[in-house]
Amino acid sequence: MNPNPETPPGQPCPCANGKTRRNFLFLVGAGFNALAGVLLTLPLVGYVLSSRRRKLPTQWISLGPVAKFPTGTTRLAEYRNPMTRPWDGKTGDIPCWVRSLGSGKFQIFAINCTHLGCPVRWFEQSRLFMCPCHGGAYYEDGSRAAGPPPRGLFEYEHKIENGELVVKGGFIPTLARPLSTV
Ligand code: FES
Repeated sequence: MNPNPETPPGQPCPCANGKTRRNFLFLVGAGFNALAGVLLTLPLVGYVLSSRRRKLPTQWISLGPVAKFPTGTTRLAEYRNPMTRPWDGKTGDIPCWVRSLGSGKFQIFAINCTHLGCPVRWFEQSRLFMCPCHGGAYYEDGSRAAGPPPRGLFEYEHKIENGELVVKGGFIPTLARPLSTV
């Protein structure tokens, strides 16, 4: 009886050591599958690891002399995004709200609402930040007052250097990437 049905009777078996052509093809197929599996997994692993080691693109940026922000006022200021390219035009200018508390103390808020990102406006008379999109409101210290926002305004780190107010800015904060834990 012929032990290998693929080998015609009387012909020598081409597969020594008990390996058949079918086994060989099976191993090649399994190898390709394993390789494809590794290649498909690599981008996913890279994505997960990169989100851990990616540093936020922040820089210290001057908002101008401290004297521009008198005590007791909340004023709109603007800085140029350091990640901007020349063709970005006005979209590279990032506005923020500066609240001057006196004695060199400030709060600097990102302009985007923490709900869906619309720019909030400051209303001096009610001393509230209001969002025009869905009626979100924030107290003057940036904490949430009413409406859909899930938290208070994002607050920039800042310092005073050579008489200038300097913020750590460079990207639009979101719930996933807040500027701080405030
Ligand atoms: Fe501000 Fe919705 S975006 S309340």
